[in-house]
Parts: sequence; structure tokens; C-alpha cells
Amino acid sequence: MALDPHVFMSALEKRAGFTDEDKAVLNSYADWGSEIASQMADHFYAYLGRDTEMNTILHTGEGRIHRLHETFTQWFHEMFTGIDDWGPAYADRRWKIGLVHVRIGIGPQHVVPAMATVIHEVGKRLQIEGKSESLKDALSRICMIDLAFIEQAYVEVSSEAVLRETGWTEGLFRRLITTGARSM
Ligand code: HEM
Repeated sequence: MALDPHVFMSALEKRAGFTDEDKAVLNSYADWGSEIASQMADHFYAYLGRDTEMNTILHTGEGRIHRLHETFTQWFHEMFTGIDDWGPAYADRRWKIGLVHVRIGIGPQHVVPAMATVIHEVGKRLQIEGKSESLKDALSRICMIDLAFIEQAYVEVSSEAVLRETGWTEGLFRRLITTGARSM
């Protein structure tokens, strides 16, 4: 795969303005993140369940919704711990999450509003509990980084598949996309 998750993580940290201060704030709220993670998962899957298409995906296969609840809870908590201080293990994990969604065929149109729901729900919780703006900002930034991983996975997997199947060069592929976009 052309994308190096570690390099991508560093680029996104700079792009999103995710700082050492943000990391320290998140770390200091790791227990709180763990406490509310399961409730956030409930909100998340209730939201997805209101969409007929998403609801079908959620209930395909045995034990999927249960498994999802667990993986979401863990994902949510990892935003606070950074796994290895937002290092290589964090980047690899986020990249893998992106690949899982591409494999299942969940498009960006579903993932973006889903992440907005996470930010909205956690924002409501922060307000009720009177938590600081700095925590809200740090969480928004890391959510955007995680979202970028999932979104980028679609692009990387699709281009890689086309290049492998056709033997085209990357330059030719890019030109075709530009021409195609102009004609739409
Ligand atoms: C904010 C966006 C999202 C996050 C953070 C997220 C998080 C995750 C995580 C952590 C996993 C486990 C990946 C693994 O096995 O390594 C996962 C898998 C999965 N997600 Fe998402 N997800 C998001 C959006 C969605 C949406 C919109 C759907 C649509 C229904 C969805 C459906 C699934 C499914 C079906 C699986 C595989 C479950 C299984 O059978 O094991 N996710 N997701």
C-alpha cells in the first residue's frame, strides 16, 4: 500500500493542529473517556440504526452489533490514551479501521455524518458536565484525524486496485480522474 500510516499520522497532526497540549488534556480525561464510552456507543448505534441501509449492515451476521459495541467503546477510549502516545501503533490501528470499512463497503457519505454524531453527543455531555473547552477542542481534532484515516482508506484502496488491475501508471490514472471530473 502506498500510504504509510505513520507518515500520514504526522501529517494529519500538523494539519489538524493536534498538539502536545491536546494529548496531555486527553490523557488527563482518560478515565472519564472510559466511563462514557459505552453510552457514546449506544448513541452512535442508535443513530446508525435510524438509517435503513446502515441498520441492515449493522445486523448482518451473528453477533455483529454486539462486537461493534465493544470495538466502538475501545476506539472511543483510545482517543484519550493515544495507545502509544499517538505513535505508530495508533496510526496502524486507525489505518486498519479504515480498511475494515472499505472492505464492508461503507461509503464516506455514511462515515462523515457518523463522526459528526460522535462530536455532537460528546459535546452535549461536555456541556452538561461543565468540562473545559480545551477538552472539546482536543477531542474534535483527534476525531478529525481518525475520520481522515477512514476517508483516505477509500481513496488508497480504490486507486491501488485500479492500478494493480490495469497496470496503469499513477500519472495516467490521475490524468483520467482530472479529465473525468471536468466532463461531469
Ligand atoms: C465515526 C465513524 C466510525 C467509527 C469510529 C467506527 C469504528 C469502528 C471500529 C473501531 C471497528 C472495528 C474495526 C476492526 O475490526 O478492527 C468498526 C467496524 C465496523 N464498523 Fe464502524 N465505525 C464508524 C462508522 C461506521 C458506519 C457509518 C457503519 C455503518 C453501518 C459502520 C459499521 C461497521 C461494521 C459493519 C464493522 C465490522 C463489524 C464486524 O463485523 O466485526 N461503522 N467500526
